[in-house]
Amino acid sequence: MYKNPVIVFEGIEGSGKTYHLKCVSAYLKKKKIDFIKLREPGGSKNSEKIRKLILNNKINFNKNTDLLLYLAARSENIAIIKKNYNKKVILIDRFIDSTIAYQHYGLGVNLKILKTINNYLLMGLKINFTFLNIVNKKNMKKRLNKRKNLNRYDKFSDSFYKKVQNGFLKISFKNKKKYLIIDSNKDIDLNKNKIIKKIDQLIR
Ligand code: TMP
Repeated sequence: MYKNPVIVFEGIEGSGKTYHLKCVSAYLKKKKIDFIKLREPGGSKNSEKIRKLILNNKINFNKNTDLLLYLAARSENIAIIKKNYNKKVILIDRFIDSTIAYQHYGLGVNLKILKTINNYLLMGLKINFTFLNIVNKKNMKKRLNKRKNLNRYDKFSDSFYKKVQNGFLKISFKNKKKYLIIDSNKDIDLNKNKIIKKIDQLIR
């Protein structure tokens, strides 16, 4: 379908997106397919510095500052994405949908402002496909409890994560062909196979 797609893994905390991204990376490596992997916030040297600032438990920025920091972290990744765009498969752990889901649906930041700055940064770069991982409250809590260090964004209320997950779903329903919803409450290996099958179709 695409030679070198940009593929994003989205979902709330404990939804398994990072695990599946690792499996896809291992699969592409085995197939000797060139790819790069980024995460947001973070991914590049400068963006990782901004990540540390945003997710620091001791700091409490307001929602607009958060938005600008997430976008600043993205801004630092754009050159890397541009350099590899259409040349290598690009895998990203979170991208624009996280900003819409968390900052707009979760925290109520104005959607127009968010999209305007984001589009300005992206300069026409397009996401080809997104795996949206969803999880129920019980499993999310179980997975978060296993984490040694919880960051500032791991500590919101259950109702906040519900709003964010519903936000992700709303975004995906607007463009169904470009999303695959992975129900991470189901068997992990079944989900892994489902994702790999889709990856094969995407990079054919
Ligand atoms: P994670 O990389 O460990 O999933 O944590 C990153 C956190 O940042 C996560 O709670 C989602 C949040 N986030 C936003 O709120 N907005 C964004 O635009 C991005 C990329 C992440």
